[in-house]
Amino acid sequence: MAVGLIGGTGFAAPADASPLPVETPFGPAVLRALAGWPDVLFLDRHGTAGARLLPHEVNYRANLWALREHGARAVLAVYAVGGIAPALRVGDLVLPRQLIDYTWGRAHTFATGACPRYIDFRDPFHPVARAAVLGAAAAVDVAAHDGGVYGATQGPRLETAAEIDRLDRDGCTVVGMTAMPEAALARELDLPLAGVCLVVNAAAGRGPPGPTAAGVETVVARAQAPIERLLRAGVAALTVSSA
Ligand code: HPA
Repeated sequence: MAVGLIGGTGFAAPADASPLPVETPFGPAVLRALAGWPDVLFLDRHGTAGARLLPHEVNYRANLWALREHGARAVLAVYAVGGIAPALRVGDLVLPRQLIDYTWGRAHTFATGACPRYIDFRDPFHPVARAAVLGAAAAVDVAAHDGGVYGATQGPRLETAAEIDRLDRDGCTVVGMTAMPEAALARELDLPLAGVCLVVNAAAGRGPPGPTAAGVETVVARAQAPIERLLRAGVAALTVSSA
């Protein structure tokens, strides 16, 4: 079995990773095989280098469908986020337990009237997958915050300070733009999904203004070694836990 590794801002494929274009009933997607990562199907949710998709433009249905069709049986997804909780620092890694969806207008389900499906989504990040990745992080000595709530916003603009105050009151500890509908679609396809968040900036009103493109690049570059260690160990753990 394979593990789907969904990257984006926080973890990108090397430019020479061989692309595997896939047609799905929901449109095209591009999977990649990564040299040195056997049994991993890599997918950059923002698309190919020349044509980056904004969070609300990503074809989440095609992406998840393509992963499932090509043999992924679990998904590890990397998210760049803003930190809301005071304990979080830029560069920290977080494995959230919960999420709140503030997105709108995205193609967010495979279900139809003719083919309804009411998934159980009380634990949006699959508990077994999440525990496996958390254990893997500890085993390879990568510090990661255990738990928290991912607030998924529509973007592409960043939030107002008042919006972040509202997310904070709602219980969100990090904010990002891509975990939904990704997590729900994975659940609809019975793909256990764990999310790894990289804090790339303090959320609006919680620290210096950001993120700037250069700032994010620096944070991502600094975090690459631990992220890669965590992802390798996480993929191995997911291969066992979902076999
Ligand atoms: N808000 C929303 N999404 C984000 C942020 C943020 O501050 N940082 C990275 N992704």
